[in-house]
Amino acid sequence: MQTINPDEYQYIVLFTGAGMSAESGVPTYRGRGGIWSEYRWEECACQEAFDRDPQKVLEFHELRRQAVLECQPHDGHFAIAELGKRHPKVVIVTQNIDGMHQRAGSENVVELHGSLWRLRCPMHGIIEDIGEKYKSYKCEHCGNWLRPDIVWFRDMLDEYNMNQAIFALRKCDLFISIGTSGVVYPAAGFPKIAKEFGAKCIEINPEQTEMSFMYDITIQSAAGKALPRLFHLT
Ligand code: OAD
Repeated sequence: MQTINPDEYQYIVLFTGAGMSAESGVPTYRGRGGIWSEYRWEECACQEAFDRDPQKVLEFHELRRQAVLECQPHDGHFAIAELGKRHPKVVIVTQNIDGMHQRAGSENVVELHGSLWRLRCPMHGIIEDIGEKYKSYKCEHCGNWLRPDIVWFRDMLDEYNMNQAIFALRKCDLFISIGTSGVVYPAAGFPKIAKEFGAKCIEINPEQTEMSFMYDITIQSAAGKALPRLFHLT
């Protein structure tokens, strides 16, 4: 199997999607058996649903938190965290909201779609909240309902996060995409940006994707197996 010497690169971006977490057992959203085949996102994952029935939306997100806490990071998450310790410039850009990278010990994580572990008060800003249940559904200062800090359907991506991601894509000389189908924009355009700015591009996915043709190397394997081998960490 292909291996990479990270020291040959100045700036490494790892771009992760649902497949990375699925290997840990985190339920996926789309596709057969996904969360959106059991729940309607119109009722639990958009601003309108939250405005209508915040309690129902928060309860739905508590179920997601519970499911994630039952799962553990896998060897692929640990390989990325290890790479971050050994190499001076590693940025993880993730579409996942489950915080698995941080649980494995990664630090430099751009969470494009937000996080299950943060809430937002319209008056008092971000509140970190880790645990199965939220500590409170309402802000202790003003009593407003707290909204999960997640990019829901019909939401815009957070501009600061998006700028951070684009900056890293333009700077990197090695771009590795892992466990993403490459169909959800704008994230699906990321390999194109990295390539245009001169990065070597690698895809890790057991399946071919619509974007596979963009990559210099495609590794058709599960992340937990491929990542430690790619970086010689086994
Ligand atoms: P997708 O569910 O579209 O794609 C997941 C990809 O992971 C597929 O291409 C799988 O082949 C691949 N995969 C599965 N197991 C893998 C493994 N062990 N190692 C590597 N790859 C594996 O997920 P995303 O591309 O992340 O948003 O989709 C982006 C967004 O769409 C998600 O954040 C989610 C979803 O709807 C919301 O729900 C708002």
